[in-house]
Amino acid sequence: MSAALRRIVIFGATSRIATEAARLWLARGVALVVVARNPERLRMLTDDLGIRAGGLAEVDAVAADLADLETLPALWHSLTERFPDLDGVLIAHGSLPDQARCEAVPAAMLQEIRVNALSAMSLLTLIANDFEARHRGVIGVIGSIAGDRGRRGNYVYGAAKGMLALFLQGLRNRLHGSGVTVITLKPGFVITPMTQDSDRDGWLWTRPERVARGIVRAFDRRRDVVYLPWFWRPMLWAIRLIPEPVFKRLSL
Ligand SMILES: NC(=O)c1ccc[n+]([C@@H]2O[C@H](COP(=O)([O-])OP(=O)(O)OC[C@H]3O[C@@H](n4cnc5c(N)ncnc54)[C@H](OP(=O)(O)O)[C@@H]3O)[C@@H](O)[C@H]2O)c1
Repeated sequence: MSAALRRIVIFGATSRIATEAARLWLARGVALVVVARNPERLRMLTDDLGIRAGGLAEVDAVAADLADLETLPALWHSLTERFPDLDGVLIAHGSLPDQARCEAVPAAMLQEIRVNALSAMSLLTLIANDFEARHRGVIGVIGSIAGDRGRRGNYVYGAAKGMLALFLQGLRNRLHGSGVTVITLKPGFVITPMTQDSDRDGWLWTRPERVARGIVRAFDRRRDVVYLPWFWRPMLWAIRLIPEPVFKRLSL
C-alpha cells in the first residue's frame, strides 16, 4: 500500500457511491472536504459523517453546482487556500440522461455533456496543475463502462463518459513521473438513486458499498484504470471486439 492520504476532497459527495467511499476513508481517519450541490442533502451527509468520525477526523462541507463551469476556478482556488494539505480528489458527480429527450433537444444533450464530462474536465485542468507543482496527489474520477462503447440506448451518457476516459488517459500520460496518480474508475450497474427507474434484478447489479471498497483500494494501490466490479473488464473487452456491422444490429 502507498503512503496514506491526509485530506481528500470529494466532488458530488452526496452521490450514493461517493458517500460510501467517504465513510470508508473517514473510518481510517482521513480528513474530508465534501462538495455537493444540494445544501440540505449536504447537511445530512456532514451530520452522518460527523457522527461516524466521532471527533477523530475532520469533515468540512462546501456547496456548489458543479455544472456552473465559470465558477469552478474560484471554487478550486478557495479549496486550496482553505485546505493547503489537500492530496486526494474524488470526482463523483454525474447524471443519467433522459436519452429520448437528448435525441430531441440539443440543449438537453449539451447539458448532460456538461454535467458528465465538461465539469470534471474543467476541475481536472485546475487540480492537475496544482498537484503537478507539488509533485504529489491522487486523483480518481468515476466514469462508467458506458464510455467503452456507444450504445443505442444511452449514447449521450456514453459519449460523455468516453470523452472523460480519453481525457483522463492523456492526463495520466502527461503526469506520469510527476508523483501524481490519475485513476479512471469504471463502475458497471450499481444500485443507487441514479438507477432507481431501471429493472435492477440480476447478478450484474452491484451494491454501492462494493464499488466504494474498490475505489478506496484503487486509491491505496495507485491504480490506472479500474473496472468495478472486476468482471466488467473482460466483458467490456469482449463487447469492444464485436464488429460494428454486427453490433449495430444488436439491441444492446
Ligand atoms: N449507478 C450506476 O449504475 C453507475 C454506473 C456507472 C457509473 N456511475 C457514476 O457514478 C457516479 C455516482 O453516481 P451514483 O450512482 O452514486 O448516483 P447518485 O447517488 O444519483 O449520485 C449522483 C450525484 O451527482 C450529483 N450531481 C449531479 N449533477 C450535479 C451538479 N451539477 N453539481 C453537483 N453535483 C451534481 C448529484 O447531486 P444532487 O443530490 O444535488 O442531485 C448526486 O449526488 C456518477 O458519476 C455516475 O455517472 C453510476
